[in-house]
Amino acid sequence: MSVRRLAPDHVQPDSFAFTAANENWIDGQIAKYPTGRQASAVIPLLWKAQEQAGGWVPRAAIEEVGRKLGMSYMRVLEIATFYTMFNLAPAGEFFVQLCGTTPCALRGAEAIKAVCQDVIGPQSTVTADGKFSWLEVECLGACCNAPMVQINQDYYEDLTPENFTALLDNLRHGRPVRIGPQVERSGSEPLGGGETLKDASLFDGSMTQSKWQERISRQREEAAQAAAAKAEAAASAEKTGTEPVSRPAPSAPSQPTSAAQDTPAAGGGAVKGSVPLETGAGAARMPETKREV
Ligand code: FES
Repeated sequence: MSVRRLAPDHVQPDSFAFTAANENWIDGQIAKYPTGRQASAVIPLLWKAQEQAGGWVPRAAIEEVGRKLGMSYMRVLEIATFYTMFNLAPAGEFFVQLCGTTPCALRGAEAIKAVCQDVIGPQSTVTADGKFSWLEVECLGACCNAPMVQINQDYYEDLTPENFTALLDNLRHGRPVRIGPQVERSGSEPLGGGETLKDASLFDGSMTQSKWQERISRQREEAAQAAAAKAEAAASAEKTGTEPVSRPAPSAPSQPTSAAQDTPAAGGGAVKGSVPLETGAGAARMPETKREV
């Protein structure tokens, strides 16, 4: 990272005013915040100023943003100088932000930086044809595809000195370029393709679906059997002139209750003051409780 200062006076415009369309847009941004909190819109306003000024934020634009939001110029300047997303000097048509943080450095960012220096020139200067400028920045959040750069709004990843040089050349000559990984890799998958979750049934819903289908067809079958049994009982009752006897539907075996589990029979131990439950024929008798005197 380098010290971030405003561009020298000779490149600074005398004044800056937002266009009518941008004024409308700004009103909408400021309206998002409660009264007295308009300063919260400082980043969107600086971003819009940079867009309007052609890719950088002149001093006059910083002052205009301060006036719009009722902030001191110094406070707006602090924000504009803190975030590398704001250029403080004119940038090239293709503004290259090179990530130099540890994961990218370990994967060869220094070699990419050397390409920037060779092809574009010193950091924060614009090439003679106005096409390029570059800046080293901190992590851009694409470490798994390191090393990488951001050029204008797009990421270019998995760079090597060769593919990065070719990329810059294609941009310079207006040829189509591939955004994202510059090697045969989809997103941030491993090289050679994904290695996990390959069984489609794990995520296409078929496992769940088949269980639902099984359960629903079983329920339908049981309902049909019950209806047939009912009809048979009704027909037989009509023949004999008696009331149809409804057969109880089969029910699931009852679960042992916690009370039963708590009994001595279940737990195998005697409860103080109680007579143990009998098993077998006597099991239906209620246990007698001895009172301690
Ligand atoms: S370290 Fe380079 S993108 Fe995170």
